[in-house]
Amino acid sequence: MKIAVLGSGVVGQTIGTKLVELGHDVKMGSRTATNAKAAEWAGKAGTRASHGTFADAAAFGELVFNCTGGMVSLDALRMAGAQNLAGKILIDISNPLDFSKGFPPTLSVCNDDSVGEQIQREFPDAKVVKTLNTVNAILMINPSILPGEHDLFMSGNDADAKAMVRKILTEWFGWKIVIDLGDITTARGTEQLLPIWVRLMGLFKSPQFNFHIVRPATA
Ligand SMILES: NC(=O)c1ccc[n+]([C@@H]2O[C@H](COP(=O)([O-])OP(=O)(O)OC[C@H]3O[C@@H](n4cnc5c(N)ncnc54)[C@H](OP(=O)(O)O)[C@@H]3O)[C@@H](O)[C@H]2O)c1
Repeated sequence: MKIAVLGSGVVGQTIGTKLVELGHDVKMGSRTATNAKAAEWAGKAGTRASHGTFADAAAFGELVFNCTGGMVSLDALRMAGAQNLAGKILIDISNPLDFSKGFPPTLSVCNDDSVGEQIQREFPDAKVVKTLNTVNAILMINPSILPGEHDLFMSGNDADAKAMVRKILTEWFGWKIVIDLGDITTARGTEQLLPIWVRLMGLFKSPQFNFHIVRPATA
């Protein structure tokens, strides 16, 4: 597939490299067409990798990953252009972490809203699926580095889009358990896992951990 990865940070680079390794053509998007990190990534990732503006990448991709900061995702996606997102699955990995007052970060949106919902509201023709935001970048594409069962969550309004994302998560990235929480409003819950996630990271002194839900016998 032709895939857009919006974001030149560690998440964009990790997802982008994995997708190239799987044989997909990946364009990384940034605010500028000459972003040094995106250029370096494309140079290293091989001939299937390229980079450009957010709009260049979104226009290129049949499928779009949002790997930008949660506080600036709407700005980045506006630069990508609604017309370049319409009808496409938009996998949103962002978290609304606000580090402006130091550590621990606060959430810039929470309780009765989420970045996932903000994106879906502003881009109603995109099929937003929120997932992967509750695990570290390395784990996203390498879940088996943690022993035992551990879980990933997924939120979105479009059943077909979620079926495709489940396939990507399980068959491409190796996830065994993907819990479909429901519509995009359920992204509030996974974004609001971040306050406990950052404290666990501090406790463990490592980001390589995950949540595992012990279900009732009836579920
Ligand atoms: N790091 C992890 O392991 C991890 C795990 C789970 C979820 N996440 C979430 O994944 C997302 C990406 O994280 P990250 O650490 O890879 O990267 P990041 O530093 O949070 O975001 C990098 C991207 O944000 C863009 N950006 C920055 N300011 C902007 C602005 N004012 N307007 C538009 N775009 C702007 C940058 O554009 P340029 O390319 O132009 O610089 C860059 O592409 C975040 O929302 C994070 O919370 C991260």
